[in-house]
Amino acid sequence: MYSQLVDTGAKGKPSREGMSPEEAAFQDRIDQDITVEPRDWMPEQYRKTLIRQISQHAHSEIVGMLPEGNWISRAPSLRRKLILLAKVQDEAGHGLYLYSAAETLGVDRQELLDALHSGKAKYSSIFNYPTLTWADIGAIGWLVDGAAIMNQIPLCRCSYGPYARAMVRICKEESFHQRQGYEIMLELCRGTEEQKRMAQDALNRWWWPSLMMFGPPDGESVHTQQSMAWKIKRHTNDELRQRFIDQTVPQAHYLGLTLPDPELRYDEESGHWQIGEIDWSEFWRVIQGDGPCNRERLGARVRAYEEGAWVREAARVHAEKQAARRAA
Ligand SMILES: [Fe+2]
Ligand SMILES: [Fe+2]
Repeated sequence: MYSQLVDTGAKGKPSREGMSPEEAAFQDRIDQDITVEPRDWMPEQYRKTLIRQISQHAHSEIVGMLPEGNWISRAPSLRRKLILLAKVQDEAGHGLYLYSAAETLGVDRQELLDALHSGKAKYSSIFNYPTLTWADIGAIGWLVDGAAIMNQIPLCRCSYGPYARAMVRICKEESFHQRQGYEIMLELCRGTEEQKRMAQDALNRWWWPSLMMFGPPDGESVHTQQSMAWKIKRHTNDELRQRFIDQTVPQAHYLGLTLPDPELRYDEESGHWQIGEIDWSEFWRVIQGDGPCNRERLGARVRAYEEGAWVREAARVHAEKQAARRAA
């Protein structure tokens, strides 16, 4: 009955010790890769973990529109403007699918938004960095969307059905985002000396923050073990980070750029690229609200929410009128 082990990296199969019969039956279904649906019984902690993860993910999509939105009016050509507009709109869509997926767990969207606006909820630390030049739009697509894909592909097989299904479409769109970013970098790197310098400068600033996107090292990641037993998470932070590094270093070399890490080296024995020390104090500082743009980002979200009050009001009145008409 308990024959199936959890995925790679798990420390053996989850023990049933101390579980109620419902919890043990739930774990059995997870082990058999049976998807959990909104009406199924689930442990309270599973529900809470998912609400936290999916809402953080939704907030990240919405806040992630801000650094790039900054460049829509300054894109260097009509073609670039169209592509960037489409990408930023995709991110809004990702946020909406994810808020909807979170709502299937019985949480109210208003509650999630209040938590974001009050600074209680977290979102990805990467979006608290500024976009200083057009090359940053290339670096974000290439590195930030690239890291997002690495994180999100395994989520298409997450045990919670609505989250897994939302991720399928999101991943397709992310792959377009990654390519548009790389294409911008490629064009800059084939351009003038000054353009290539811009590309290098963007890589220098975005490389380390994008490695931090995978979260703290496995030893310090508090949620990893339980999330893996529940198949919310399929790989550890360090595994995904290493995959991203191995994929991205050769791409940087193809561009003719240098990674801002003097300790970077290829390890023949393991077949992996090894990096120097990540400055985790920077990560924690940014997560705790003290990154370069935290206040600006949150301020922009709150302002957008307040300025959108009339839309919500109009939608509510319209729905009431429709309902009244139906009743009549
Ligand atoms: Fe996205
Ligand atoms: Fe994206």
